[in-house]
Amino acid sequence: MKKVDYDISKLIEIEELGDERGLLTVIEGNKSIPFEINRIFYIYNTMTGIRRGFHAHYKTRQALICVSGNCKVYLDNTKRKTDVVLDSPTKVLILEPNDWHEMYDFSPDCVLLVLASHLYDSEDYIRDYDKFIEVYKNDTVF
Ligand code: TYD
Repeated sequence: MKKVDYDISKLIEIEELGDERGLLTVIEGNKSIPFEINRIFYIYNTMTGIRRGFHAHYKTRQALICVSGNCKVYLDNTKRKTDVVLDSPTKVLILEPNDWHEMYDFSPDCVLLVLASHLYDSEDYIRDYDKFIEVYKNDTVF
């Protein structure tokens, strides 16, 4: 496989469909996001000051959407580190398996929706940072 330098996760802006009744936003697997959706979970009622996540994956790709309120996501793909603000239901953050991620600064009304490419499997998690670096330090693009 050709080795290419790769970008940290992608932030996609999804179209907002609105009329006199209000707003509606659609996300379709393999269309507006680059994978099939096999699992959905959401994080809410997060206590003040909590930071969560602290892992990467071997296989799972994810799309993060703050459907209510706001939060921040810290990302590290071994090459670059960045912080992304999710503050709109039209912003979709794509996380590749090799994105170490930590979510923080949750507003009290934050509902963070996560669309995942794979069913839950604890074996697909890399929770040790040193292990994450070891696995992905020489990695190619996803
Ligand atoms: P955890 O991975 O600790 O959440 P975060 O990475 O956001 O800090 O998940 C909390 C608990 O929920 C943990 O016991 C695993 C369980 N869980 C599932 O059973 N299925 C899932 O799809 C997810 C995301 C978590």
